[in-house]
Amino acid sequence: MKIAVITGASSGMGREFARQLCYENPIGEHFDEFWLIARRRDRLEELAAELTIRCRILALDLTHEESYAAFAAELEEAKPEVSVLLNASGYGKFLSTMDTPADDVSGMIDLNCKALVRLTQLTIPYMRSGSHIVEVDSLSAFQPVPYINIYAASKAFVLSFTRALNAELRKTGIKAMALCPGWVKTEFFNHAEPNGRTEITYFNKFFTPDFIIKTAIRDMYRGKKDVCIPDFAIKAQVFLTKLLPHRLVMKIWLRQQKKL
Ligand SMILES: NC(=O)c1ccc[n+]([C@@H]2O[C@H](COP(=O)([O-])OP(=O)(O)OC[C@H]3O[C@@H](n4cnc5c(N)ncnc54)[C@H](OP(=O)(O)O)[C@@H]3O)[C@@H](O)[C@H]2O)c1
Repeated sequence: MKIAVITGASSGMGREFARQLCYENPIGEHFDEFWLIARRRDRLEELAAELTIRCRILALDLTHEESYAAFAAELEEAKPEVSVLLNASGYGKFLSTMDTPADDVSGMIDLNCKALVRLTQLTIPYMRSGSHIVEVDSLSAFQPVPYINIYAASKAFVLSFTRALNAELRKTGIKAMALCPGWVKTEFFNHAEPNGRTEITYFNKFFTPDFIIKTAIRDMYRGKKDVCIPDFAIKAQVFLTKLLPHRLVMKIWLRQQKKL
């Protein structure tokens, strides 16, 4: 049984990935099942009803240790061939380091880093040469970002992890790629700015999940990159973060956010 495992499938980029993999698959890949993971079962059921591929719903909170055991048990029982893994579950807070509640400090690190690594580790034994792992990362992975500090640091972890993993997997034919978009219009902002409370007020450009995921799926199937940065302007921004001292890059960001 050939499957795709998609975390964060209840909204935003995860949901869009499931839709495009089903309806706009550029290589016409056949899947027997999609395994959809997130906490909101009703949202996953809505998506499953919309797709023409059979879906298995795993309503799991990936910050809970027992969720890994539940996922491992599903894999062990079904013994599928996992052709695609997308890890899109994640969130951030637009708050200073000291204002970020302790629960969110743990929550962001547990979900964005630990859960992503654990699901990747559990899934790889069920992959074959030609399988793909896409870890949803962020433009913020390339530089320190004050006032989204913990989130950005978690995404720097994802970038480093994914690139090294891809190198380790070279001989297996399994590819791992970090997807690093700029700002994307999703429910991410509902959680980043609870009750409108935010330290971030300037956003240079917004992308649609449709555009980001189209680029991601194209690059995933090409299998040539360990990092996918959709859009030329964002690529240029990443290039500058590599060229300029990070002290200066942070200064520009703080000025944009009217913090200087
Ligand atoms: N939007 C942006 O501007 C942007 C930019 C760069 C990178 N990203 C990254 O893109 C990824 C997807 O975010 P998005 O923009 O699509 O936001 P989103 O619409 O808020 O989606 C986040 C997903 O994560 C799931 N999730 C949250 N907490 C979870 C938990 N404890 N256990 C399991 N699943 C959980 C949510 O489902 P439930 O609530 O149902 O659990 C949801 O499906 C994230 O990693 C985010 O950091 C976003």
